[in-house]
Amino acid sequence: MKMRLDRWLATLGACSRSDGKAWIRGGKVAVNGRIIRDSALSFDTEKDALTLDGKAVDGRVMRHVMMYKPGGVLTAARDPKQPTVMDLLPEVYRRIGCMPVGRLDKDTTGILIFTCDGEMNHRLLSPGRHVDKTYRALVEGKLGSETVEAFAAGMDLGDFTAQGAKLVILRAGEESSLAEVTISEGKFHQVKRMFAATGHEVTELHRRSFGPLELDPALQEGDWRELTADEVRLLRDAAGFSE
Ligand code: URA
Repeated sequence: MKMRLDRWLATLGACSRSDGKAWIRGGKVAVNGRIIRDSALSFDTEKDALTLDGKAVDGRVMRHVMMYKPGGVLTAARDPKQPTVMDLLPEVYRRIGCMPVGRLDKDTTGILIFTCDGEMNHRLLSPGRHVDKTYRALVEGKLGSETVEAFAAGMDLGDFTAQGAKLVILRAGEESSLAEVTISEGKFHQVKRMFAATGHEVTELHRRSFGPLELDPALQEGDWRELTADEVRLLRDAAGFSE
């Protein structure tokens, strides 16, 4: 993305726009190894190398992140009272407009993707896209083939009809059962509501995958990392950019 040098510095939160102008005039800012004294010059934020006071700065404003969302944290840009997933990322991600793709409930854990690409975010959530999400659910009661069939058939949840979903029972006990469910929509509380409609309350919910991406096993709860170039490519394909 092409951006004026003073705006670039302000977007990254390196300084205010007026301080940036002074820094640039004062010869503190270099791009690709050359000191730049003209604030109005534009550079490629993803490719050009930015240096402030001789120190390399990560200048990219188009970033994509995978987080292992912990329980007890809201999926929201900000909240006056409760911690949000954005609070787990350095401030620069907020400044460059990196936003979560969809929501996980406060108590749900697992993979959450963030992107600065608003169009990709929108497409990945679009109902017509059918991006699969796989959850592991601990539920009350004994799951059996009738629940697998009910999930596969889809179900009326009052305000919307959930499309068919794949349910695989991993363990069925009298008190509780463990299952993996794959849905291609993403309605509010969808998994919990589908289980509730079949008489099973969800006690733990964890998302293992989002579209083509699985939660990185090296991440601990609350950890995050940037997506690799290959992962971004897979996500862009899932968003239909290569169609
Ligand atoms: N379905 C739910 O019920 N909760 C989530 O957090 C995600 C999917």
